[in-house]
Amino acid sequence: MTENKREWFRITVTVLIVLAVAMFAAGLMLLGCGEINGEKKLEDMRTPVDENLTVVGVSQVGSESVWRTANTESIQNVFTKENGYFLIFDNARQKQENQIKALRSFISQRVDYIVFSPLTEDGWDTVLQEAKEAGIPVILIDRKVNVKDTSLYTTWIGSDFTREGRMAGTVLAKYLTRQGRQDDTIRIVVLQGTEGATATIGRTRGFREVAQQHDNWIILEQVDAEFTTAKGEEEMERLLDKYEDIDVLISQNDDMTFGALEAIDRAGKTAGTDGDIMIISFDAVKNALKLVADGVITADIECNPHQGEYAETVIERLEKGDPVAKLYFVPETVYTKNNAATALEEPED
Ligand code: AHR
Repeated sequence: MTENKREWFRITVTVLIVLAVAMFAAGLMLLGCGEINGEKKLEDMRTPVDENLTVVGVSQVGSESVWRTANTESIQNVFTKENGYFLIFDNARQKQENQIKALRSFISQRVDYIVFSPLTEDGWDTVLQEAKEAGIPVILIDRKVNVKDTSLYTTWIGSDFTREGRMAGTVLAKYLTRQGRQDDTIRIVVLQGTEGATATIGRTRGFREVAQQHDNWIILEQVDAEFTTAKGEEEMERLLDKYEDIDVLISQNDDMTFGALEAIDRAGKTAGTDGDIMIISFDAVKNALKLVADGVITADIECNPHQGEYAETVIERLEKGDPVAKLYFVPETVYTKNNAATALEEPED
């Protein structure tokens, strides 16, 4: 090899080594930050350095409704550093596969507790078995899971959705009687929430139980409107086109009711206890309660979103080795014109 060739060879090898070291360092930096295209990846997030904090992985369904936002806030308000927690929060954006991915990530990070609200009831056996084998207690909030082995979760905290559905039927019967329409033919449409979700299953079942006691109540159609305002509006518009005389709308959440009200207005009809269409809604969020106070919504069945504090109490008990119940029902009220205005005056939680 000539001196020139040796020099050229030395330079090439040096450049290659420098390039390799630079690429390796860049790779390490990306992993350390856990960022790809500016997005933090769940699996790259590390559990806290502070060993005194209890690590809680929370998988939330999504952000489809005003209720859901309040539910998320109640979680984020309690699982704070000040309260002794390190919260890893994931929004599944209405996709079960995202929830399963989040749960697996929590398991691989060896969190102390998993708190999650399942989108729908089916399909959780495998991932919950993995959590059980990793020794991580699972606390369900809001919705339930349909699993063969109920030891796969420690406890569930949420609403009695079937009771909510029954209360919707009972309050409707009361108002119809008050108007002297108890024997009239009553044509009903139902906007349902996400198919397969506990809230949808329970509210549908509870309302149907009461409806079956009234031969004059005809359920024209019940349709999935996904718990969203946009879908509520779209489906109500379609129902108004299809059926001339809708007497009652049962809307399984306030967001769908807000959308339905737009469609009712556009169809030239009036909503209200004394209007063309009587509405019974669920959730009782603030803007809906205002409509109850004004008589636009006849009754709103509360769905209590403040489940974070209950989840924290369960974790405190588990930390102390105290027993916990398998089910915890949160307290709920029915709002009508009689109590909505007073409720609105009360300070918010
Ligand atoms: O599971 C609770 C339901 O989910 C609430 O009624 C609804 O608003 C939410 O999206």
